[in-house]
Amino acid sequence: MAIPLVDVRAQFAPLRGRVLEAFADVVDSGRFILGPNVDAFERETAAFLGTQDAIGVGNGTDAISLVLDALGIGPGDEVICPAFTFYATVEPVVHAGATPVFCDIHPETLNLDPEDVAAKVTRRTKAILAVHLFGRPAELDALPPGIPIVEDAAQAFGARVGERRAGSVGVAATFSFFPTKNLFALGDGGLVATSSDELAERVRMLRFHGSHDKQTFELVGWNSRLDELQAAALRLFLPELDGWNAARREAAARYEALGLGGLVRLPPEEPGHVFHMYVVRTEAQERVLAALREAGIGSAAYYTRPLHLQPALASLGYEPGSLPETERAAAENVALPMWAGISADEQEQVVACVRAALARRGAAAGARTG
Ligand SMILES: Cc1ncc(COP(=O)(O)O)c(C=O)c1O
Repeated sequence: MAIPLVDVRAQFAPLRGRVLEAFADVVDSGRFILGPNVDAFERETAAFLGTQDAIGVGNGTDAISLVLDALGIGPGDEVICPAFTFYATVEPVVHAGATPVFCDIHPETLNLDPEDVAAKVTRRTKAILAVHLFGRPAELDALPPGIPIVEDAAQAFGARVGERRAGSVGVAATFSFFPTKNLFALGDGGLVATSSDELAERVRMLRFHGSHDKQTFELVGWNSRLDELQAAALRLFLPELDGWNAARREAAARYEALGLGGLVRLPPEEPGHVFHMYVVRTEAQERVLAALREAGIGSAAYYTRPLHLQPALASLGYEPGSLPETERAAAENVALPMWAGISADEQEQVVACVRAALARRGAAAGARTG
């Protein structure tokens, strides 16, 4: 039996009936944009995250654009961000007319390396865009003080930075509800969370053409709103999220118990990690991916061409070798099947396949834990 990389449908199958009922209620209400479900979801997510406000928007990419716009970031400004992340992290920076400054990652966390960030801060730095990659909280406390941190928490709904929820630490945080995310919609959706009244007010206006009342347009804004159908589904999923994330952590522990750490380098323990993806490292990346593919097991290598080497960003002038840890992670990472509800049997098959792939090579080179 094929094993997918992520089985979204299995994850929400027990709620299917309630989702359809909630959709029927929205259809019957005739209210599809910025109605009661979005209002309630915004209150519920703010309470969950521990932020003063949360604003539903069209998707996670727009969420970043709206925050940068609300912060007044534009031409002449620099925004520090990782290059080992999805392209959507950086696009809004470029759209804003600002300059992305790529920093290297720490090899253990795969998140921004605070030392490299400190070395790249200039007087033009207006924000640090810190990604909680694969659901692992970034080391926000170690980032240079005095510069606004925007958390790209697209992959980390429910993660914790110490005692706090990821998304409640920076001046603002952005989330995506793309269907594979830990908290997901059945289509596109996104969220901005912040405890700044001023930022919340601006994002609320910006998502609706820069207006409060559809009559007076105070800002040049956007049209980017979470819709009622998605909010209705998200409201059903939010109360399940901590349980789903706990199941992901159990599955991660099971991979370790099955001996995966003797074969490849495992993600080091971090209590706040919610394993959006379960990503291991091996110098035999190609071989492991090929074996998994052949066995019908879902897998992926993420960001194999990191952002600083993307053709669209060539004018920034980064050369291969300029971010060594980023490039090493790109060449070594392998994401293995992970979702809330993956079975022990499925995980055993995955580990057996990785073991066989590496045995075929004669040695499990690249195997190190932590
Ligand atoms: C790290 C990161 N940032 C931003 C985004 C953009 O989110 P969306 O696809 O909802 O626009 C994603 C997800 O796709 C992501 O993984």
